Amino acid sequence: MSENTFLLDGEAIPFVPGQTVMQAAKAAGKYIPHLCWHPEFKPHGSCKLCTVKANGRFVSSCTMEAAAGVTIENRTPELDDKRRTLLQLLFVEGNHFCPSCEKSGNCLLQATAYDLGMMSPHFDHFFPDRPVDASHPDILLDFNRCILCSLCVQASEQADKKNVFVMGGRGMRGRRIIINSESGKLGDTDFAASDRAASICPVGVILKKRVGFAVPIGERKYDQAPASVVEVTK
Ligand code: SF4
Ligand code: FES
Repeated sequence: MSENTFLLDGEAIPFVPGQTVMQAAKAAGKYIPHLCWHPEFKPHGSCKLCTVKANGRFVSSCTMEAAAGVTIENRTPELDDKRRTLLQLLFVEGNHFCPSCEKSGNCLLQATAYDLGMMSPHFDHFFPDRPVDASHPDILLDFNRCILCSLCVQASEQADKKNVFVMGGRGMRGRRIIINSESGKLGDTDFAASDRAASICPVGVILKKRVGFAVPIGERKYDQAPASVVEVTK
């Protein structure tokens, strides 16, 4: 193995010092399942879907810096099984009605579940009571689908410099995205449909009004190719 490479499922992956395992894998066209990681933003390691085994130890590949000679296990039956369980937990924790969701076919959660062969939710549904915020003239927020990935928080803060979204609350049922306005409504912020945060949500929370189903189901991003292909080529 040459100096700046590590082994990913038995294959030598080159890396530039400072790159994470996720970044190097993506650059080499290798898919590591992920939800909260986005190439434009600093990784924060919250969803754990990208967990791999590095020299036998579980670690988030989106936050682990690549190091020479490390042996990484990624798409093993053991790890994909744990990932399916994480996905099942996400599906029952929110209210995900894929057949009627505008984001169907463009949703990373749905596409990842297809890709990893998740066949059922397995666990009992929580059916949480989550609000819909239609107060903004151009944007609808449907928190039923939120997976708490924090990408809207990062995009609004770092790309838009607005801090419209904030992660708040505690615990499995209390943690949620809060809108940073006195009323707690999006319509009372300076959020704009052209903001980076308006198009960052990997699921179907942040939706543009009046453009629903503009691209028909069957012709959408993950209808064309599975997440394992789209996510290494985008
Ligand atoms: S609203 Fe979307 S982008 Fe924001 S935390 Fe929830 S799932 Fe992530
Ligand atoms: S993608 Fe690494 S923890 Fe979410």
